[in-house]
Amino acid sequence: MDRILVGPAGAPACEILIEEGLVDDPDAGLVVPPRDGRTRIAVLTQPGRPAVYARSLGRAVRDTGLTAEVRVVPDRDAAKTLATAEEAYTWLNGLALTRDDLIVGVGGGAVTDLAGFVGATYLRGVDVVYVPTTLLAAVDAAIGGKTGVNIGGKNLVGAFHHPVRVVIDPGVIAGLPDELIVEGTAEALKAGLVGDPELVALYETHGIDAPLDEVVARAVRVKAGVVSADFTEQGTRAVLNYGHTVGHGVEMAAALPHGHAVAIGMVAAGRASEIVTGFTGADRQRDLIGLLGLPTAAPGLAASTVRSFMALDKKRSAEGLRMTLLETVGRATVTAVDDATVRRALEAVGIT
Ligand SMILES: NC(=O)c1ccc[n+]([C@@H]2O[C@H](COP(=O)([O-])OP(=O)(O)OC[C@H]3O[C@@H](n4cnc5c(N)ncnc54)[C@H](O)[C@@H]3O)[C@@H](O)[C@H]2O)c1
Ligand SMILES: [Zn+2]
Repeated sequence: MDRILVGPAGAPACEILIEEGLVDDPDAGLVVPPRDGRTRIAVLTQPGRPAVYARSLGRAVRDTGLTAEVRVVPDRDAAKTLATAEEAYTWLNGLALTRDDLIVGVGGGAVTDLAGFVGATYLRGVDVVYVPTTLLAAVDAAIGGKTGVNIGGKNLVGAFHHPVRVVIDPGVIAGLPDELIVEGTAEALKAGLVGDPELVALYETHGIDAPLDEVVARAVRVKAGVVSADFTEQGTRAVLNYGHTVGHGVEMAAALPHGHAVAIGMVAAGRASEIVTGFTGADRQRDLIGLLGLPTAAPGLAASTVRSFMALDKKRSAEGLRMTLLETVGRATVTAVDDATVRRALEAVGIT
């Protein structure tokens, strides 16, 4: 089993456990950290396969003598609403959950974000554990302590609340439908590009068939490392925004899936890196993104539209737009970029 700690040195907030078979045949002891007074487990999950995993986890937990209840919330971002959170609070009241008890989120990033938000706020903070069941949730959403719901815009209401444990079963990730693998691959590749050249090499060798146990372990290590080095998000975590400046603009302008938008954003950021840092791998990165089945351009979008959405982005500073750029594969930097560079970056993905 892989065990990766997240948090300041010597004071980990979260442990990430990666092992095959944890979800299909749940080991209650691995999912539920012991705590004095802990008697009840409340599991929030999504319809479909995550609910199946959640129910079998519930049975395994009950076999250990604890109480376990499972609640299925709406699928995808329909779960991330204050109304769903309120229903969950009322449900937890009915269970008489205490601060010694535990909330578990089983599913994709929508469920882990909701479960984390409920855990952050119910009784002013209850421990949460995540069992991410998508590639995106495993390598991204479940790590870093950001929780939230959508109010008008995405994630506008939330709190930092780290899960005490994240349990990842690469076998579950490997069983995902192709489109969810491709979607999560954008963030896994991003992790490699900003922090692990060997992960990028793995994708160059195997394409989308890269072994998911190694992909997950490597991508998780990158995010865990970046988060631990900037635990309270003062600045250096921004390297994780690689591909997300243009990506957010494209996502909003064209209503693309997040992973697709990030892929296009990484191509644009690769071009900007070439101009600003002298990065030499932009063409190779674009070819790899295409090889993985992700889009490398967003032709037909007006630059003015994409820019107006980019301008709304939180990463704008007084000096102008700040972007995360690559110096080399595996090393990123965050820097202000001028208007001409933004124009050329957008042109590189067909946005004029
Ligand atoms: N907190 C963070 O730092 C952070 C980071 C990135 C993304 N996010 C959030 O994560 C969410 C996106 O995550 P996501 O892509 O996992 O989406 P999701 O939770 O919406 O899940 C996508 C789909 O996958 C299905 N699914 C989940 N597990 C499955 C499985 N094992 N087999 C088959 N289908 C399965 C779900 O039912 C859903 O239909 C967004 O809300 C985003 O804001 C949060
Ligand atoms: Zn992202």
